[in-house]
Amino acid sequence: MNLKDLYINYFISKGHKQIPSAPVVPENDSSVLFNTAGMQPLIPYLMGQTHPYGTRLCDYQKCIRTNDLDSIGDKTHHTFFEMLGNWSLGDYFKEESIAYSFEFLTSVLNIPIEKLAMTVYEGDASIPRDEVSANAWMSHGVKKERIAYLDASNNFWIAGESGPCGGDTEIFYWRSDDPVPEKFDPEDERWVEIWNNVFMEYYKAPDGSVSVLPKKNVDTGMGLERVVAVLEGVDDNYLSSVWIDVIKKIESFATLTYSENPKSIRIIADHIRTAVFILADHSGIKPSNTDQGYILRRLIRRAIRHAKKLGIDINSSWEQEIALMIIDKYAKYYSELTENKAVVLENLQVEKVKFNRTLEKGLREFEKITNNITDGNLNRDLAFKLYDTYGFPIELTEELAREKGIVVDVAGFKEKFKAHQELSRTASQGKFKGGLAGNGEIETKYHTATHLLNAALKQVVGPDVHQKGSNITDERMRFDFSCDHKLTDEEKIAVENLVNQWIKDEIEVTKKKMSKEDALKSGAECMFIEKYPDVVTVYSVGDVSHELCGGPHVNNTRELGTFKIKKEEASSAGVRRIKAVLE
Ligand code: ALA
Repeated sequence: MNLKDLYINYFISKGHKQIPSAPVVPENDSSVLFNTAGMQPLIPYLMGQTHPYGTRLCDYQKCIRTNDLDSIGDKTHHTFFEMLGNWSLGDYFKEESIAYSFEFLTSVLNIPIEKLAMTVYEGDASIPRDEVSANAWMSHGVKKERIAYLDASNNFWIAGESGPCGGDTEIFYWRSDDPVPEKFDPEDERWVEIWNNVFMEYYKAPDGSVSVLPKKNVDTGMGLERVVAVLEGVDDNYLSSVWIDVIKKIESFATLTYSENPKSIRIIADHIRTAVFILADHSGIKPSNTDQGYILRRLIRRAIRHAKKLGIDINSSWEQEIALMIIDKYAKYYSELTENKAVVLENLQVEKVKFNRTLEKGLREFEKITNNITDGNLNRDLAFKLYDTYGFPIELTEELAREKGIVVDVAGFKEKFKAHQELSRTASQGKFKGGLAGNGEIETKYHTATHLLNAALKQVVGPDVHQKGSNITDERMRFDFSCDHKLTDEEKIAVENLVNQWIKDEIEVTKKKMSKEDALKSGAECMFIEKYPDVVTVYSVGDVSHELCGGPHVNNTRELGTFKIKKEEASSAGVRRIKAVLE
């Protein structure tokens, strides 16, 4: 049985309820882009709210940490990882928590006690030295020499700056063939931390003041990738069973082997896995230039750049096959991977094609630029050009520059980037409807068809249907909308007929400028209201549709031809997607 199952089964046998892994994008917490620890989705309950599953919980949680992207490529760092956790919400405390951890490690995983060591909190002016935890460990036979008392920087845990927190005890494993020293030296890197038990008794407010929580909780976290590697006796996480088949798969596409360029292979493995989990998440994140979408874009583009370094044929389906292998590996535990498989694969492909179109030229331009640099500095204008013309995220330019010992003016780039954003905001006056790809004649037709489809869905399916996104090429349109069910054949036919009826009716398309406020009052449709300028254009198709939009549109619906739905499918939770064509 694997570690995940062993862990969950053990804690269930100790009266814990398994809770499902929360989405990687926090649902009710905008303070972080991604869940970084198992406890994050549980904060309200650690603060005192009653949890519907009771007071003893356990899970495996999808976590993403992207603050340290530059370390990805070494043996131990990952942007995505799974954290195994168990919690007591005002139920058991230090002694029982330690008893469970000890029993799980020594009796379930059969780790010899000689290979274990622990740290506990040495205390401070207001919190006593944690003799309770030290004594609890010793009661199980752990020797005094194997327990180290450390300060708050090591043994006091809080997620970020504020929130529930407390002293902790960390468990270390001797990962080396050298004889285990009698005395535990936390500075000796052969001791690896495998589990952290936090005793959450306090709450630190954003203003820095500390209060006592209504209940004493336990929050533990065990990083799955690291523990699997430890148990399998490898000192490179990527050689454990979590990764090895993915590494081999990447090698099969590359002209270099893992031992020749482990860094690029690890980056690809790590970044594609994280991209798969972000794309499959029910939050519906897609590659973009902001927030989570930007991180996703950076991960995919960086993976592509490293694939190139390995001699992988970028146009082949390498990224699809790696993604499929990852989906297969994890599907048993995360059903969203199967549910959103098509979304994952499509977005990886689309982003690859987008980046690949300019990558080669961009790399050549980068070489040209940097060969002319004599003072070791790449200025903001050139960094911006690489971003704007070739789609290089600034971090990618930095990474490439670093390989040549060149420093990038990142602050200058950011200023220029901001100024540019403001400029294009004014210039495009309301052109914010996602995905209007071009202004060609055919795209313009599809654009008008999007408005008709939106209106038809509202009439056929219900007024709660709202546009969630769209993407237009000169071959087809894609339209995402909120809807809680798969459209029936009858609904699809009704929508199609309605749109075609409106086309036959030869309805005029008109536009009117008005204040955003008036536009909203008039009931005009819009997507992201806060992003529109104060004066907006409302396009109307007779009485059928009124939408805030930057255009352009056809003058009359008769120009559209025949509208046909090709496909209707899930896009993400609560969002459906229609692909349609004009014939
Ligand atoms: N929340 C604790 C951690 O992430 C368990 O280490």
